Amino acid sequence: MRARAILTGAIIAQGCLFASAVVVTQGQEPLAPSEVTREAPAALAEAAVLAPPTEAPAGFDLLTNGAVDATRFAAALVEFTGPEEADEGLGPVFNAAGCAECHATPIIGGSSQVVERRAGRFDGQNFIEHPGGSLIQDRSLFPGLQERVLPGNNVLAFRASLSILGLGFVEAIDSNTIAAIAQSQPSSIRGQLIQVPVLEAGGATRVGRFGWKNQQASLLSFSADAYSNEMGISTPLLPLEQLSNGLALPAGTDPFPGEPGVTDDTTNEDIELFADFMRSTKAPPRDTTIAATPDSRRGESLFASVGCASCHTPTIVTAPAGTMINGGTFRVPTALGNKMIHPFSDFLLHDIGTGDGIVQNGGPQTRNKLRTVPLWGLRARGRFMHDAASQSFGDAIARHSGQASGARAGYNALSSADRNRVLLFLSSL
Ligand code: HEC
Ligand code: HEC
Repeated sequence: MRARAILTGAIIAQGCLFASAVVVTQGQEPLAPSEVTREAPAALAEAAVLAPPTEAPAGFDLLTNGAVDATRFAAALVEFTGPEEADEGLGPVFNAAGCAECHATPIIGGSSQVVERRAGRFDGQNFIEHPGGSLIQDRSLFPGLQERVLPGNNVLAFRASLSILGLGFVEAIDSNTIAAIAQSQPSSIRGQLIQVPVLEAGGATRVGRFGWKNQQASLLSFSADAYSNEMGISTPLLPLEQLSNGLALPAGTDPFPGEPGVTDDTTNEDIELFADFMRSTKAPPRDTTIAATPDSRRGESLFASVGCASCHTPTIVTAPAGTMINGGTFRVPTALGNKMIHPFSDFLLHDIGTGDGIVQNGGPQTRNKLRTVPLWGLRARGRFMHDAASQSFGDAIARHSGQASGARAGYNALSSADRNRVLLFLSSL
């Protein structure tokens, strides 16, 4: 079970790369041929002689994984921590003054209890975003600009803060590896992959893997998006100011308006620091004491045998160092390349009956789908699922239906001692 879940560059080189581009699409765009060329190892022979992958470094220690040096990492950590002030571009509508207000536990970069709101309208066929974007900002510098959900918006969803620890490794997963995982899944549970624009690549697309809806594929793009949406700070990469419910800002309410066409930040330096910080964090570590117990090990194998691991993929290998990703704008560094990670996610969208009706970058088919949330770092989380409405691992499992019905039934059919072993295993992640 475990071995099957390990997908390496070598598997891709065996020809399933092109097959998967056709089979996995489920109504979506097939992988663009240019991306196949760019993200696949340069030559098949190269993949064949690639050294065996090594374990990605893991630790809740705020030390660089080597993708950038310690000096750059320290600067990036400061920038990620914040806070920003109004005269630095914060607002006028925003959710928080620094990334670390929400990405906070157990160390900076982790998750938190902060939940955001998204809203829009479903007309029976399509989802239409709320005016000003589906994210409803919860804070404003001016009472008159406070956003609230306007009447007629019948879709309301909550979104839990996610951890960004170890995401450099996730960014370094070849798109074709994610396609191959989808292809390896039985059709009853097969995940959907979506291609999303990479902002820094002029709209070239890549397989989405970040956010509850897989709405982003690159950490620089996500940084620009978060700086704009969470903090109201526009950058050359995402130049539009956040408006209040989509209405033009009255004069004097954007404290750092600049000239027309001038953004809050005139360079992308801050978002490059955010991306460097995230790319250099280590993967969330296991609790090795719990993981080594016979009960946890048994729980891990039951997790696989009842079908949880088919979506919560235990092991993935990143693209070889030197691979050009993100539409050809980023070269996988040695520290992130050919690394074995244990995210317990396939980074695909599934309908497990918890869909929230929101569409972000994925088209109408994705309305009620969510990304398999990575389970690494689970022991550092206190509330579960996209809406943070589940209070325990057991609650979260009980909400799995749809494509996860079989796995949930398998889990429910276990003896209570065995279910406890699965829960113990989860508490080691
Ligand atoms: C107000 C809280 C809040 C702030 C501030 C915030 N985030 Fe987030 N972050 C979230 C939430 C909520 C999600 C999940 C969003 C979604 O998918 O709907 C998220 C998701 C992410 C993800 C994707 C994680 C994954 O597993 O795919 C990245 C990357 C990220 N944030 C980066 C940043 C950066 C960089 C900043 C600062 C510029 C930032 N965030 C500021 C709440 C926040
Ligand atoms: C068909 C794919 C699929 C299968 C099979 C599956 N899951 Fe999930 N799992 C998901 C998705 C998608 C989510 C996120 C759903 C949401 O947030 O609404 C999730 C969320 C979770 C969470 C919440 C984690 C968090 O941080 O919020 C836990 C725990 C979990 N799954 C455990 C399991 C276990 C245990 C099994 C086997 C009994 C299982 N899953 C089977 C797709 C799957």
